[in-house]
Amino acid sequence: MRVIVEEHADAVAVRAASFIAALVRRKPDCVLGLATGGTPVGTYRELIRLHREEGLDFSQVTTFNLDEYVGLAPTHPQSYRHFMQVHLFDHINIRPERTHVPDGRALDFEAACAQYEQRIREAGGIDLQLLGIGSDGHIAFNEPGSSLGSRTRLKTLARETIRDNARFFASEDEVPRMAVTMGVGTILESRRCLLLATGRSKAEAIRATIEGPVTAQVTASALQFHREVIVVLDEEAASLLERREYYEDVERSQRLYEQQIGRFG
Ligand code: PGA
Repeated sequence: MRVIVEEHADAVAVRAASFIAALVRRKPDCVLGLATGGTPVGTYRELIRLHREEGLDFSQVTTFNLDEYVGLAPTHPQSYRHFMQVHLFDHINIRPERTHVPDGRALDFEAACAQYEQRIREAGGIDLQLLGIGSDGHIAFNEPGSSLGSRTRLKTLARETIRDNARFFASEDEVPRMAVTMGVGTILESRRCLLLATGRSKAEAIRATIEGPVTAQVTASALQFHREVIVVLDEEAASLLERREYYEDVERSQRLYEQQIGRFG
């Protein structure tokens, strides 16, 4: 894993957006895996700015979101489809038919989940998967105990997640108890993962993800098996990491290497 620590959440957003923008410029018809929650909002804001001010073109981009609450209509203010419209899609030139969010109100969830996986395959697979992390170490809604080989399916939310997400709803009782979510196995198939975390409440989960053992109790730790993961953290989220110095050395080497490539190539 490549671990990058920025001073503030704003800098995390700018750095994350720069990775996404570089991909969109290099491969205009790329497939992005997108995430919801408080963490990626700043990244989406920066992508909108890049679109408006620098002409970043999303017209050929395809997107697949990680998850959706069961029972919420796409127009529900707390649905993840609505979140994506408000925080990104309505402000860039992406084609609506190329944006995909799991259906939280499918009549046959098993068929709908299989079809979601099929659509990802037909699109050529996900080039870059953006990820947040739960305070319980989940990626997407793969709660502790989820199979590390899991595919898109229904998942019951952990109480910790329901409490964490209650801030977006009028009360804890209104948070749906289930979600449709890509599985850990689905996420591991993406070509590159970009995991973001900000704030002290994520520090323990980040330590366990990066420096702990791989365990289904911290599903983000399965990313240790992925061949290309970039983790961008703010100081608070990075505060419990023990190998900080090494990560900084790696970044220094990386910058030197890039300068050399620039000079010679
Ligand atoms: P957050 O959620 O960005 O709102 O903290 C992250 C997650 O639960 O994956």
